[in-house]
Amino acid sequence: MVALSEQEYQLFQRYIAEKCGIALDESKAYLVESRLAKLLIDSQCDSFSELFALLESHSDANIETRVIDAITTNETYWFRDPGSWQMITTEWLPQKIAAMQARKNQKIRVWSAAASTGQEIYSLIILISEYLKNNHITAVTIDDFEFLATDISTNVLTIARRGYYDPITIMRGLKPDLRDAYFNREGTSWVLKEAYRKRVRFEPFNLQNSFMLLGKFDLVFCRNVLIYFTEALRSDVFKKTTQVLKPEGVLLIGAAEIYYSMDAYFQKNITSDGTYFTVKETTK
Ligand SMILES: C[S@@+](CC[C@H](N)C(=O)[O-])C[C@H]1O[C@@H](n2cnc3c(N)ncnc32)[C@H](O)[C@@H]1O
Repeated sequence: MVALSEQEYQLFQRYIAEKCGIALDESKAYLVESRLAKLLIDSQCDSFSELFALLESHSDANIETRVIDAITTNETYWFRDPGSWQMITTEWLPQKIAAMQARKNQKIRVWSAAASTGQEIYSLIILISEYLKNNHITAVTIDDFEFLATDISTNVLTIARRGYYDPITIMRGLKPDLRDAYFNREGTSWVLKEAYRKRVRFEPFNLQNSFMLLGKFDLVFCRNVLIYFTEALRSDVFKKTTQVLKPEGVLLIGAAEIYYSMDAYFQKNITSDGTYFTVKETTK
């Protein structure tokens, strides 16, 4: 196997920081080396310096995409972090449905800001569908919601759009009765039914960019992505999120995430069901 030298690692470190905002420390050299190994072979490069030169030459647009796909960590699963879903079920959703019934016409908008292969946004669609069905609610339907899911990696978005999951991935966090109700079996894999898949608009989007053209949201998931960023970028993402949340809009981060930089912008709300964030009055 071709080894990644310290100097070569620094080149990729800088490149990844600039393109994705991901801060790789010295301990991640082995990870970069192993994740880029296949690309090195596929591009017929003899060294990582050669691969970097190819990247910088912009002669193959595919290379940049493949480097980003390889370096990003796309770990996700169904109904990740139970507290988020409990809070949505007991607080957020009932409030939104009540508001919807009181004054029609305004869509409830949700953004999954680092969507990976789609489990986060599809879990929400399944949860809402189950809630409406189990509570015999007909005045509000899934058509009253709009779902946007974005990620910097085009590879994960392709998987998400297809809604196609292998036997191991489908089992991670998803109960068999929900799997059977919302997915069709294809051999040993499972495909989310088209009626649910088509609800989501999947778009490539870099969290380093401006959020201004995204519109306003009732709920933003920004879970398990900020851990990879520098403190400055996290702070920037929090600031930009305040600009795209509706007045009572809610931000969810991962259960294990704690960021001091969000205190300037967000109020932490702790309930027996889970924690969520709303924009601080002083920032509105
Ligand atoms: C660990 S996954 C989290 C998936 C999901 N939110 C969850 O909590 O299960 C992190 C995702 O963030 C994406 N990501 C990394 N840097 C990004 C950036 N600068 N802009 C947008 N997405 C990014 C990765 O491609 C990856 O799919």
